[in-house]
Amino acid sequence: MNVHIFDSKEQASKAGAILFAAQLMDDPESVLGFATGSTPLGLYAELVRLNQEGIISFQEATTFNLDEYVGLEREHKESYHYFMHENLFSFLDIDEERVHVPDGMAVDPESEAVWYEDMIDEAGGIDIQLLGIGINGHIGFNEPSNVFSQATHAVELTESTIEANARFFNDKSEVPRQALTMGIGTIMGAMKIVLVAFGANKAEAVKAMIDGPVDPQCPASILQLHDDVTVLLDQEAASLLLE
Ligand code: F6R
Repeated sequence: MNVHIFDSKEQASKAGAILFAAQLMDDPESVLGFATGSTPLGLYAELVRLNQEGIISFQEATTFNLDEYVGLEREHKESYHYFMHENLFSFLDIDEERVHVPDGMAVDPESEAVWYEDMIDEAGGIDIQLLGIGINGHIGFNEPSNVFSQATHAVELTESTIEANARFFNDKSEVPRQALTMGIGTIMGAMKIVLVAFGANKAEAVKAMIDGPVDPQCPASILQLHDDVTVLLDQEAASLLLE
């Protein structure tokens, strides 16, 4: 793992955006994997700036998002489909036909998961995948477990994730209980991975991911076994790492 610690999350976000920009410059037809949550917002703002200034183009790129809540319409303000359009896709020269977010309203979430995984394979796999990390070490919606998941699948959200995400809803009872997520195997299949984490509340998870054993109780720890992972941290998120 290449771990970089920055003085601010703004600097870390710019460094992350540069990795995506470099990928697009190298191959305009790249397959990009995106994440939602608060962590990528600065990185997305920087990608929008680079696109609007004509430095990079998304016209020939394909994108796949990590996950989506089951039961939320695309238009729901807390759906990840809505989030991605509000914070990134609407501002880019991207072809909507090549934008993929799992369909949380699919009648059969398990079939949707299989179809989504097939789409990723048909696109040739993910060239560069962006990740955040949950306070419990989750990546995507792959929660702590006794085994590492493989392909895209439907999951029940844990209490800790429901609590953490309740801030985005009027009430905790409104947080969906299920989600569709790329599996750990899907994520590990990406050629390059960029994980971004900010703030003291991520420090324990970041430490377990980097310094702990590879253990499905900290799903992100599997990234130790991938040969091209860049971790971008602010000082607070890095505060518990071994020297
Ligand atoms: C989002 C996702 C999640 C988040 C994680 C961190 O698509 O897959 O794993 O990356 O929960 O969320 P934030 O950035 O809000 O702290």
